[in-house]
Amino acid sequence: MERNLLWWQKGIVYQIYPRSFQDSDRDGIGDLAGILRRLNYVADLGVDAIWLSPVYPSPMADFGYDVADYVDIHPIFGTMADFERLLDEIHRRGLKLIIDLVPNHSSSEHAWFKESRSSRDNSKRDWYIWRDPAPDGGPPNNWLSFFGGPAWTQDEATGQYYLHQFVKEQPELNFRHPEVLPAMLDIMRFWMDKGVDGFRIDVIWLMAKDEALRDEPANANWDGVNPHESLLHIHTQNLPEVHGLIRAMRQVIDEYDERVMIGEIYLPNEQLATYYGEDGDECHLPFNFQLIDVEWDAQVVGQAIEAYEACLPQGAWPNWVLGNHDRPRVSTRAGADQARVAKMLLLTLRGTPTIYYGDEIGMENVDVPPEYVQDPPAVLQPEIAHAIGRDPVRTPMQWDASQYAGFTTAADGPWLPLADDYETVNVAKEREDPHSMLAMVRLLVHLRRAEPALHGGSYTAVTSNVDEVLAYVRRHAAGDSFLIVLNFGDENQELDLNAIEGLATIVLSTNMDRAGRVDLASLYLLGNEGLILRLSG
Ligand code: GLC
Ligand code: MG
Repeated sequence: MERNLLWWQKGIVYQIYPRSFQDSDRDGIGDLAGILRRLNYVADLGVDAIWLSPVYPSPMADFGYDVADYVDIHPIFGTMADFERLLDEIHRRGLKLIIDLVPNHSSSEHAWFKESRSSRDNSKRDWYIWRDPAPDGGPPNNWLSFFGGPAWTQDEATGQYYLHQFVKEQPELNFRHPEVLPAMLDIMRFWMDKGVDGFRIDVIWLMAKDEALRDEPANANWDGVNPHESLLHIHTQNLPEVHGLIRAMRQVIDEYDERVMIGEIYLPNEQLATYYGEDGDECHLPFNFQLIDVEWDAQVVGQAIEAYEACLPQGAWPNWVLGNHDRPRVSTRAGADQARVAKMLLLTLRGTPTIYYGDEIGMENVDVPPEYVQDPPAVLQPEIAHAIGRDPVRTPMQWDASQYAGFTTAADGPWLPLADDYETVNVAKEREDPHSMLAMVRLLVHLRRAEPALHGGSYTAVTSNVDEVLAYVRRHAAGDSFLIVLNFGDENQELDLNAIEGLATIVLSTNMDRAGRVDLASLYLLGNEGLILRLSG
C-alpha cells in the first residue's frame, strides 16, 4: 500500500556549495544572486530540495564552517534580503531549502568567543572549552585536530588553552553549559520562522566530549597517513550524551510542520543507526556515507547495501550520498567509465539520495596546483594535501564553454581553478546532447519521481551468475516493479538472474541507446552499462 511519504522521503536533495555555483557580482566567488539566476536549472533537474552549505558571516578560515554570526548572511554571498528572495523563489518552484547549521564550533570572531576569551570570569567563559596547560606547559591532553596538530590552542589573554577539532579559528562550544543549547535552539527557530525547511547539521556526532578530557588511546591500525587517525576517538566522538542534544534539536524541528533534520555522521552502520533515536526522535536522516568510502566493486557494494538495510531501526528512512564538499568526486573515485552506473545506483536505491552539485554533468576532481591551494587541512599539512585537501572537489560549476565556464566574469577569474575539461564537460553542451550524463541524470530523477516503486518501494537483491554485476528489484504495490542491473566491470556479460525470468522492458540504459522488450533468460549487458527494466505482471 502507498504510505504517505513526506517530501524528504520521496524527494532528492541537491547540495550547492555556494562559493562555487554561480558568481553574480564579479568577485570570483559564488553568491546568492548567482544561485537565484541558476534556480531554473536546479528545478528542471527535477530534484526536490537544495541543501546550501553555510552562507553566514565568516572570516572563511574554513570557508564558512567558521560562523561569526548564526543569524545573518556574509556580504560575499549577499544580504538577508537576497536570502529571503532566494527562499521565496525556491518555494515558488515547489522546492525546499535545507541550510547548514554548525553548532559544534563557532568562529573565533563570533561575539560569544570574543567575550569568552576576554577573561576567566567572563559570563561566556564556559560557553567554550577552556583548560589550564598540562604541567609541562603543553596542551591539556593528547587530542588532535582533524586538520593537523593538537586540538588545543593557548590563548594569550588568560594563558589557558581552548579546544578546537578543526582549525584554531573554530573554537568548540561547550554544550555542557546550560545556556549554550538553548541559544542554538533559538537560532534554529530564527531560520525556521523565516521558512527554511530544515537543517543539515555539521559534525553532529562530535557535539559532546568527555567531561574529564581523558587522553585518547593510540589506534593500532593506523595506516600512517593522516595523523588525526593515529588515535581512537573514544572521548571526542559519538559520546552517549550527544543523543540528548540531538533530541532537543529534534523537538524544536517538531515545533514546526514537516521540517527535516539531517545529521552529518561518519560512523559504521550499527552506531549510525542509533542517531535515528530510540523512538525515532533524533535525526530524520543520519547521513549514510557508505557509497563515498566503499570499494567500487559490485559484491562489496551489494553487501554494503544489505548491511545498511539490516541495521535500520523500525520506521527509519534510509538515505544515500555519493559525494559532498569534503570527499572525492564519484567520477574520479569510481572512474569516468563507472560514473553513469554510480548515478543509476544512487537514484534507484531505497532512501533519500543526495546529489553533489556538478556530479550530474560528470565533474571530476580538479588538480589544484600548490600555489592555488586554499583548503585549511591541505595548507596546514602540505605533505598529505593530496589525501586530505578538499579544493579539488569544490571547483566552479561548469556552465558553458565561455571563459571561466560561465561561473564568473571576474577579471581575476574564479576563487579556485576550473577543470581543464570545462569546454566539453558543461551544462550548455550536455543540454544539447540527448545522450549526455546530464540528460541521463534528468531522466533518472524524473523516473524516480514518477514511479512509486523507485521512490518508495522495497529493495530486494537479486543474485546472478556474474560477480561484476549488481542486480536488485524495487517493488511497490502501487505501480510497476523495476529490475536494476549494474555492470561494475568493463566486460560485456550475459546474465542469468536465477530467480527472475520472463519479459521485461528497458526504460533507461546508462548509454541511452537501448529500449524495448528483452527476455530476462538471456539479458545482455555491455561493460560499464546499467539498465532499469520495468517488470511485467
Ligand atoms: C564538516 C564539514 C566540513 C568542515 C567541518 C568543520 O565535516 O562538512 O566541510 O570543514 O565539518 O566544520
Ligand atoms: Mg560573487
